[in-house]
Amino acid sequence: MVGSKLSMPPGAPQLRRADADAIEEGARRLAAGEVLAFPTETVYGLGGDASCAQAVQAIYRIKGRPADHPLIVHVADVEAAAWWGDLGEDGQRLAAAFWPGPLTLIVRRRAEAPDHACGGEATVGLRCPAHPVALALLRAFARLGGRGVAAPSANRFGRVSPTRAEHVAADLAQHAQGELTLVLDGGPCEFGLESTIVDLSRGTPVLMRPGGLAAARIEAVLGRRLGRRDAQAPRASGTLAAHYAPHTPLELVETPALAARIATLAAAGLRVAAWCRQRPASSALAHWEAADDDPVRFGHKLYAGLRSLDALGLDRILVESLPAEADWDAARDRLARAAASFAPGG
Ligand code: TXA
Ligand code: MG
Repeated sequence: MVGSKLSMPPGAPQLRRADADAIEEGARRLAAGEVLAFPTETVYGLGGDASCAQAVQAIYRIKGRPADHPLIVHVADVEAAAWWGDLGEDGQRLAAAFWPGPLTLIVRRRAEAPDHACGGEATVGLRCPAHPVALALLRAFARLGGRGVAAPSANRFGRVSPTRAEHVAADLAQHAQGELTLVLDGGPCEFGLESTIVDLSRGTPVLMRPGGLAAARIEAVLGRRLGRRDAQAPRASGTLAAHYAPHTPLELVETPALAARIATLAAAGLRVAAWCRQRPASSALAHWEAADDDPVRFGHKLYAGLRSLDALGLDRILVESLPAEADWDAARDRLARAAASFAPGG
């Protein structure tokens, strides 16, 4: 095998710089039904041929994701998207305005399109990513006859999404059992938060997940307000209350309450990390991480920051609540879900 590293433990994926050769190799592996990880401008994806039942099943296995949670199908362009689903007028306009880019469109699936990645829904989630490596991979795969690449974020189900190739290897190597052989390393992801998801399959366009693309820009193109998620929406992992969670319990704390919360936890013998804009005066803090006051920079660092705070092995991570402005929607959404899996006691 080209460039295989003898020092890697058996079954560990090969991390390979995403140059032209590696991308071609990746496309060949996709065409052979294998699963690989690749960078996008949002987060790393765990990809396989969306038309191949075995490849899609391998993704579900490696990720530990329930079979009824659909995967996004990544495509090289609008024409490829139209093969999978009916974009309709709204979808055509949004794709023309924002693809390639961090926008996923949920549309009605065409009857002929394979449904392996669709979790039993009559719809399909479609995205054309802007990352040059992702686009080159999708184009090379299309030249080999591929229709699209099913790819969830390349983390274990419910956990923090990966924004670097090393995160993917750290999360998935022990669960992949040799089924993930290649991680294309394209460096850190530019946005660092997942794509914005808009559901176009139910009449009024609905914002399913705030993300890399601001809702206001989508509304400007559509010329109307997006609906917000409701209880009838299909079950979608990124929309579950508890998600994106580190192992260390995480609490969101309003700025004025930070000092008291640190004191309470420290008095109970807990070792606490705080991720907040100003260094707390408290000497009881085990670790302080300065939080960015710019939403783009904050989003870019969010997942890597959660991972490094988690790696400290402390008892609690306190994160200062984020501003209420729309620019912060995506980061606020992810942090609320990261905190939701933990209900703080005293
Ligand atoms: O930025 C992103 O979107 C990244 C990169 C890799 O493209 N992908 C990503 O995938 O975040 P994932 O699977 O972690 O989150 C996609 C979300 C899930 O909540 C999934 O259930 C939902 O999209 N989804 C996908 N297809 C859907 C469909 N047909 N109907 C409803 N929800 C869908
Ligand atoms: Mg995810």
